Amino acid sequence: MQSLFSDNVTILGLLGAFAILVLTTFVVSTYLKKMKHSKADGVLTQEEWDGIKEFKNDLPIGWTAIYLCVIIWGLWYIFIGYPLNAYSQIGEYNREVNNYNKNFEEKWANLDESELAIMGDNIFQVQCSQCHGIDKSGINGKAADLNQWGRKEHIVNVILNGSKGMNFLAGEMIPIAVSKEEAQSIADFVMAEISNAKIPANADTIAKGKELFAINCTACHGIDGKGVEGMPDFAPDLSKYGTYEFLQIVLSRGKDGHIGKMPSFNYVNFNEIQEKALNSFILSNE
Ligand code: HEC
Ligand code: HEC
Repeated sequence: MQSLFSDNVTILGLLGAFAILVLTTFVVSTYLKKMKHSKADGVLTQEEWDGIKEFKNDLPIGWTAIYLCVIIWGLWYIFIGYPLNAYSQIGEYNREVNNYNKNFEEKWANLDESELAIMGDNIFQVQCSQCHGIDKSGINGKAADLNQWGRKEHIVNVILNGSKGMNFLAGEMIPIAVSKEEAQSIADFVMAEISNAKIPANADTIAKGKELFAINCTACHGIDGKGVEGMPDFAPDLSKYGTYEFLQIVLSRGKDGHIGKMPSFNYVNFNEIQEKALNSFILSNE
């Protein structure tokens, strides 16, 4: 077993405790003696409480000096010295993350689609596959089937079944009363002309979809599909649909929808390349 005295910190501590004990005994006994033997003298104040009177004493200089110093130090600390810009662990963490992200973005700035999809696959398996499955299919309806999402099929599905849970001001998008064929032509129109993904489709279908869109969708999504002007929070901007920017909306808002609850990923703080990579992977046919 280690002896108490083998460690010099312990020894110092013990010595200090002993010194305090000796000093305390000395001071207390001195004052006790004084109280027994010496008589009080000095000028008394006028006050008297049940026979107890009070001497007129000047404020002790030392006490006054310390009092003033503490006030000055306090003001200095609040207004000047408070270490807003000084070292903190959170600050160091944020700095390191920022540096890391900067290097990351420089290093991976010019990836092509297939490289992005590979990166996205890796991120997806770690962050998303527990709900969406390693094949993106949503594990038998546990989460959204991402083999349809971002594509025409998902729009058809949304038109016919509605969508909710991303907390837009318009609230829930209710199912729209159109036939399946009509929904498909609207989806073709959205993919070809509204979404920046610009997926081509049959010209007649697009023209039909355009008409139906004007009747059924513009009230919430705006005439050009970019949402209601001046109210970006009213309903999603469909020009982003099929691009990584739409994924950003889902990742930051999360979605508590018809299928289940997808958490917001704000806490992970994906950078733009990672979001592009995830989107490329989701839209790839892997
Ligand atoms: C009553 C307002 C309203 C109407 C009408 C409406 N939408 Fe929506 N739409 C919304 C809202 C709100 C959302 C976001 C829903 C959510 O929170 O998931 C949305 C979401 C969407 C999405 C994205 C779905 C997703 O989460 O991936 C698409 C695509 C879409 N709408 C297309 C359409 C089309 C096409 C029409 C017309 C046929 C239409 N919407 C009509 C309000 C509306
Ligand atoms: C805790 C489970 C869970 C995790 C983890 C998760 N999701 Fe989801 N996700 C869901 C559920 C449930 C839905 C369906 C929400 C609904 O429409 O009801 C969904 C829906 C989606 C949608 C479709 C949203 C829409 O517009 O309809 C996308 C895209 C998506 N997730 C991407 C991701 C990505 C990318 C990740 C990883 C970064 C991820 N999810 C991680 C559960 C999860």
